[in-house]
Amino acid sequence: MVQAPANSKTVLGIETSCDETAAAVLRLTDTGPVVLGEVIASQFDDHAAYGGVVPEIAARAHADVCDHVVKETLAQSGLTLDEIDGFAATSGPGLIGGVMVGMMTAKALALASGKPFIGVNHLEGHALSPRLSETVSFPYLLLLVSGGHCQFLSVEGLGKYKRLGSTIDDAVGEAFDKTAKVLGLGFPGGPAVERMAQTGNPAAVSLPRPLLDRPGMEMSFAGLKTAVLREAQARELTDETKADICASFQAAICNVLTVKSQRAMQAFREAHPDIDQPGFVIAGGVGANQALRSALTQLCVEQEFSFHAPPLKWCTDNGAMIAYAGALRLQAGETSDLTLAARPRWPLDEEAAASAPIFGGGKRGAKA
Ligand code: KG4
Ligand code: ZN
Repeated sequence: MVQAPANSKTVLGIETSCDETAAAVLRLTDTGPVVLGEVIASQFDDHAAYGGVVPEIAARAHADVCDHVVKETLAQSGLTLDEIDGFAATSGPGLIGGVMVGMMTAKALALASGKPFIGVNHLEGHALSPRLSETVSFPYLLLLVSGGHCQFLSVEGLGKYKRLGSTIDDAVGEAFDKTAKVLGLGFPGGPAVERMAQTGNPAAVSLPRPLLDRPGMEMSFAGLKTAVLREAQARELTDETKADICASFQAAICNVLTVKSQRAMQAFREAHPDIDQPGFVIAGGVGANQALRSALTQLCVEQEFSFHAPPLKWCTDNGAMIAYAGALRLQAGETSDLTLAARPRWPLDEEAAASAPIFGGGKRGAKA
């Protein structure tokens, strides 16, 4: 067994806010975070027939496997419960039934072992995720793109986030999932659409670029989703036409996100004129998309930002990012009360959210 350094914090983190039951044991040392064990159990098969995540099915599936996932994670880490300094769980935003399962598990472990419980904002987990695998100095610009959120954040430090812009309706991952559903490509849609797009012609189908003509960093994907449905209904769906729709859809997404990212970079530079080469991070499930990664890597070269993206397993929902955020909070002396309630909505930048609330209408619901 590896002896923990005197000032390190070892935290077990649990993530259950959507359709992944995930846990990780992470040790925070002076040289950074080290993941000692992690397990992710996906529920794709449970939701496949519905083309999207069904909240009740998700909550039940989390309840079925959460304790097994935690047990296996602990076994992988080679540590006993006594050697864990705190238990963290996503406390929101997300699907409330699932969030409650993870929180109850972490609270029970905390209570039984006499160690602290730390409720973690899922978005903070994503926001800090690039630091799991490399040194990215604060402040940096983050594009968070997943099934439940799509926003630009200036990550100034632990607990310090400024929202620069976000979707005003659906999350970008939802648009990928809906496109896949319309074309009968299965769930989750993102990887299927990306695979199909490889053989398609991105100029074959004319699709809108919502809000591109307006200044600012707000985005919208609901209209694009509907346009895909219209185009799909207007033609015979063969492998070739499906590939063309996927390629054209992906090109529209890349176009919108690249232009909006450029504006976000300008805003970030104006706020931080002293930083020579700021970091730009893409995180969240859609960050796994290779076409988007290459478009943004190119933009970073042009705009003199350094490009960062967590490895794929930490782009999508995972326990490591929750354990990491929990360990940093614990190190800062912050713990949560066992009465802490789950929050379906929990914006990182409460001030911006209060002045311009976002209401998402998708199946997963806007997490922010
Ligand atoms: O971060 P995540 O695992 O869960 C949420 O917090 O929502 O993101 C899941 C989303 C889904 O909508 C999925 O279709 C999308 O990320 N996604 C992708 C890709 N891989 C996953 N979208 C585009 N291209 C991909 N390769
Ligand atoms: Zn997420």
